[in-house]
Amino acid sequence: MTASPEPPNSKGCRKMTTTKKSSGRRFGARGKLRRRVAGLLALGVALIGAGAVYAVFVPKAQTAQAQGDPAQMRLGEQVYNNTCITCHGANLQGVQNRGPSLIGVGDAAVYFQTSTGRMPMVRQEAQAARKPPMLSPEEIDAVGAYIQAHGGGPERPAQTGAALQGSDPARGGELFRLNCASCHNFTGRGGALSAGKYAPNLDPASEDQIYTAMLSGPQNMPKFSDRQLTPNEKKDIIAYIKSVSNGNNNPGGDSLGGFGPASEGVIAWIVGIGALIGVTLWIGSRA
Ligand code: HEC
Ligand code: HEC
Repeated sequence: MTASPEPPNSKGCRKMTTTKKSSGRRFGARGKLRRRVAGLLALGVALIGAGAVYAVFVPKAQTAQAQGDPAQMRLGEQVYNNTCITCHGANLQGVQNRGPSLIGVGDAAVYFQTSTGRMPMVRQEAQAARKPPMLSPEEIDAVGAYIQAHGGGPERPAQTGAALQGSDPARGGELFRLNCASCHNFTGRGGALSAGKYAPNLDPASEDQIYTAMLSGPQNMPKFSDRQLTPNEKKDIIAYIKSVSNGNNNPGGDSLGGFGPASEGVIAWIVGIGALIGVTLWIGSRA
């Protein structure tokens, strides 16, 4: 009850006060309404503003998903159903003892696995081997878009090919020795791991494949997110791998894992010792 100074002893009096009050209240209500509308407007503007900021900064993945070319999406689904579904499941959830879930692996992992011919896998083995790709580039893009649209995950970089080689291969070499050499050897020649698994030679890998390998961390290889290695650091590593592969920058000699011209040393040693023994025998036979 509102505290009124008039005692509510007569109906007329009460009426009078209520009419007075109601006109005051109506005035107050209009002010309140105005304030409420203004509040709603401010809220609306703030929401739209937040939406705009979000649209500008965040949702590349969402827009890509929403805008995804329907024809490409259909091709991707078709490729998936024909070649991947038996091991990875109807909803990408994986199949026990056949293949892992693909939810959230992203386009980067799909590109790496299919462009290096690892997927579709033909039989169960300790490690999917590199082989000539079975899918065409369009099929690879399509199945990548399809899997990306069902769970998101790391995407392929915007650049491709030589544009992914950074400008500082020396820094790339340092980063490679810190992050990769323990498995791939100092010059990317690869090496054995446990249980029939191995870190492959990096010579055949393209710039895009090296980049997506780092992003997706296939099998026993760790993932290198952009927080662990920034995109520029990844590119410098690629520049380094490209500078030491395919015989570029080769210091000479059979590489033997890149620890120096040891094979020449072995040959010199054998020839040298052979010659010494020969001379010794010759001297002995003359005496
Ligand atoms: C014969 C079974 C089989 C088929 C067919 C197959 N996969 Fe796989 N897939 C596997 C297995 C097993 C692994 C784990 C391999 C490994 O760790 O070396 C895997 C791993 C993957 C990964 C890596 C997942 C991750 O966590 O990084 C991707 C991506 C992938 N497959 C995509 C595909 C696509 C796309 C197809 C169809 C074009 C396909 N696979 C067909 C068995 C299969
Ligand atoms: C713990 C060991 C380990 C470390 C560290 C590691 N890798 Fe790997 N890497 C592997 C294994 C194992 C594979 C093979 C995965 C497969 O076949 O599914 C691989 C595969 C690759 C491939 C694919 C090669 C091809 O021809 O298909 C590239 C490229 C690669 N790694 C680059 C790197 C780079 C660059 C780094 C450092 C930033 C790195 N790796 C760190 C173990 C490792």
